[in-house]
Amino acid sequence: MTDHGLEVDALSRSFGRTAALDGVSLSVARGRVLGLLGPNGAGKTTLVRVLATLLRPDAGTARVAGLDVRRDRAEVRRRIALSGQHTSVDDELSGRSNLVMIGGLLDLGRHGAARRAGELLSRFGLEEAADRPAATYSGGMRRRLDLAAALVGEPEVIFLDEPSVGLDPARRDELWQTIRKLTRDGVTVLLTTQYLEEADALADEIAVLDHGRVIASGTPADLKHRVGGHTVVLRPADTGDLDRAAAILARVTGREPDRTRRHELVAPVTGDTAFFEIAALLREHGVAVGEFAFRLPSLDEVFLSLTGAPTRDAEEAA
Ligand SMILES: Nc1ncnc2c1ncn2[C@@H]1O[C@H](COP(=O)(O)OP(=O)(O)OP(=O)(O)O)[C@@H](O)[C@H]1O
Ligand SMILES: [Mg+2]
Repeated sequence: MTDHGLEVDALSRSFGRTAALDGVSLSVARGRVLGLLGPNGAGKTTLVRVLATLLRPDAGTARVAGLDVRRDRAEVRRRIALSGQHTSVDDELSGRSNLVMIGGLLDLGRHGAARRAGELLSRFGLEEAADRPAATYSGGMRRRLDLAAALVGEPEVIFLDEPSVGLDPARRDELWQTIRKLTRDGVTVLLTTQYLEEADALADEIAVLDHGRVIASGTPADLKHRVGGHTVVLRPADTGDLDRAAAILARVTGREPDRTRRHELVAPVTGDTAFFEIAALLREHGVAVGEFAFRLPSLDEVFLSLTGAPTRDAEEAA
């Protein structure tokens, strides 16, 4: 037995001349969340498909819940669940019937399937809507039903493909809480996401894929520190003070601040001394402050510096 939920070693898989996975190694402990990030075409879905035994690797090894994806394919399938874009929910059936049907397919027996369905409906706050056709569910309810469906078989490892796409912030927070609860029960989660905020909120470990290789891995905090230093963000109360404030930042940090965003000055710093120096100079020169922050780089900035590609979040915000 191993303590790893997922263990991947030198995994490769090509499609024709495209190396979708090019020697990927990573691992995550049982009951933890691994966030898999990367730009389009990086190999995320290919990795998930190999781990879910839907695709055979060309080389390397992968263990899921301690089992080899090649040798123990059937057993791996019994222990995992895949949830996300391609939902298996039948719209015409009620939420309850969907879950009971899946339980039946998993040989839980009539009573077992009904009991499991009841447990999951209550856990996901779907009791009231349980006997309505799934077609009448809101987007958030569907996502929850989809996740409930994935959990009927009590998987040890669950693969979530961009789980919060299309959810409003409240529903998304609920989903995040649900995912955290799963890990408390010892379920290992692999989450692919384009939302860095989601990875930051949920993932214990992050692996960044690019062109089929892991280009960075570690905790969210590790990755932020790797890019180095902090960032000072300054927004003068009066936009007429922007130039004077920029001059102060330049004087302290030794470089011109970034002025990409209107009315905002951004400069990288090492250590907090610069922050206090800037504050003192702003006061001395009578520059009133609207906003003044000292922070770690965001995961978006980390991602950009690692891959050279902005994330979808950053693009949307721009
Ligand atoms: N069935 C396939 N046949 C041919 N090429 C494929 C196939 N599946 C994936 N690829 C290629 O492998 C590479 C990795 O694709 P993959 O779908 O794993 O990326 P991804 O990280 O999931 O991207 P996205 O963020 O767009 O979902 C891409 O270049 C893709 O075109
Ligand atoms: Mg994909």
